[in-house]
Order: sequence, then structure tokens, then C-alpha cells
Amino acid sequence: RIVYVNGDFVPEEEASVSVFDRGFLFADAVYEVTSVLDGKLIDFDGHCARLDRSLSELGMSMPMDRDAFLEAHRELVARNDIGDGLIYLQVTRGAADRDFHYPADATQTVVMFTQAKPGLAENPQAQTGIKVISIPDLRWDRCDIKTTQLLYASMGKMKARAEGADDAWMVDDGKVTEGTSNNAYIVKDGTIVTRQLGNEILPGITRTAVLRFAREAQMKVEERAFTLEEARTADEAFVTSASSFVMPVVEIDGARVGAGAPGPIAKRLRDIYIEEMR
Ligand code: PDD
Repeated sequence: RIVYVNGDFVPEEEASVSVFDRGFLFADAVYEVTSVLDGKLIDFDGHCARLDRSLSELGMSMPMDRDAFLEAHRELVARNDIGDGLIYLQVTRGAADRDFHYPADATQTVVMFTQAKPGLAENPQAQTGIKVISIPDLRWDRCDIKTTQLLYASMGKMKARAEGADDAWMVDDGKVTEGTSNNAYIVKDGTIVTRQLGNEILPGITRTAVLRFAREAQMKVEERAFTLEEARTADEAFVTSASSFVMPVVEIDGARVGAGAPGPIAKRLRDIYIEEMR
């Protein structure tokens, strides 16, 4: 695999980043994951705009402009011959002697790599749906910034797997915030409900597109917090993210959602999303 490190395209075995990199030592870094379908980048501009925002919230600026990022993404797709897959991009504050205070002038580290996922849009999991468990949301209060502090999310997924489920929904004050790496939705009496944007959740790029398509298709959408209880008695549930598009949720904490199979609205939104974006 050919990866990108600070301006160079190199075989992954030859890529290196300093042990003093603040991304490594402090998770002082932000990232983006963009999907690729048939060699085409999905919603690149949305991801680029969110990267800019994440960086600026942490007092950093874009290490290169949108066109340079786009060119690097395209080159990685071409060099790795990616049909369907993902591109991961990470920007760290850079290397500096270990100190909680960070220097104003560190040179940012920029890393990008691809992950091939043949048949990404035909993921068989979308036919059966996924099972989620609920866990308390113990993350910090700036979940709107896409930082690489993913340990809690990772632990949540491990707990889900250990309990025979696929993912975890995080709950704060009785209300669902989001999934470990996706935004969460329920459907009740034909209305799609998903938490409003705020510091508690990541403003998903897929979320923005899916809500737009839902409204264009005359579906009812409510952006508000919903309780775990509401979720358990909903007609349907699903999640969205760059890597899963729209993924039906069929079980929450061992209890079936609706009929215990992917619901019609989730299926329709998945089809619309893939058709419109590819
Ligand atoms: N995760 N919420 C969280 C906590 C996320 O980590 C993600 C993305 C999303 C969905 O955002 P988007 O639609 O822009 O992908 C919501 C990526 C895919 C990941 O960490 O792999």
C-alpha cells in the first residue's frame, strides 16, 4: 500500500512519524474518513470543510488548501487502485518535546492512507441490520470536534462485541447522543428523529446529506434528543456514517426494534443516498 506522509507518497513500510508527535503523545490531532465508490470520492467538500472547522477549534489551521487535499486524495486512490473503500486523513499539531503547553510554530504532521473495501455499497450487513447496546456517554464535552481521542469509542465497540452486538449507542442524561462512530436515528409513526447538532455529537457529513434527501423525499424529520426508552419502542432505528452510509439497527440492548428487521425508511434512505452520491 502506498501512503501519504508530509508531502511524500511512500510504501507503508517506509512511512514514519516522530515518536514526539503530539498526535501520538496527546491525541492532539484531528481526522476525517471519506468513502470512495467506484473510484469516486463521496462528499469530499463536506469532509474538507469539517476538517477546517475541527482544526480551527483547536487553534490550528489547514496545512494545505482544499485543492491540494483533493489532489492528494485522488492520487492515493489511483496509486492504490481503489474502487470501493475509504481514505483516512489525519492532521496532528506536529512533533515537539513532550510538554502540555504546545508550541505555536510546530510543523503539522499530515498522514493519509486508503483502505480497500470491495463492495462497500453492497455490504450484506445492510440486509440484516446491526445490533447495538447502550453505554453511558463518558466522552468529553467537545464531541463536535473530530479528534483522534477514540479510546472510549473503541472500548464501547469491544464491549458490544463481547456481548454479541455490533456497536454501542451512547446515552447522556437518559438521551441518546450518537453511536461510537456514527450518528443515531429512530423512526416513529413515519417521523425520522435524530439528535440536534451541538457539542455532544459529531456533525456527520452523511447526516447532513441524508437529512436533505429525507426532506426532499417529503419525509418528516425532527432534530431533537430522544430517550433510550423511545428508541426501544420505535418502529425503526438506523445509523449513518461515511463508512456505513445508512445502516439499519434491529436490536437495542437485546430487544427488537420494530419487527426486528431493517425498516422501510432506513432501506429507502440507504438506496437514495447511495444512488445520489455514487
Ligand atoms: N466516524 N459520530 C461519530 C462519533 C463518528 O466518529 C462519526 C464518523 C460520525 C459520522 O460522521 P460522518 O457521517 O461524517 O462519517 C458520527 C468515522 C467514519 C470513523 O471514525 O471511522
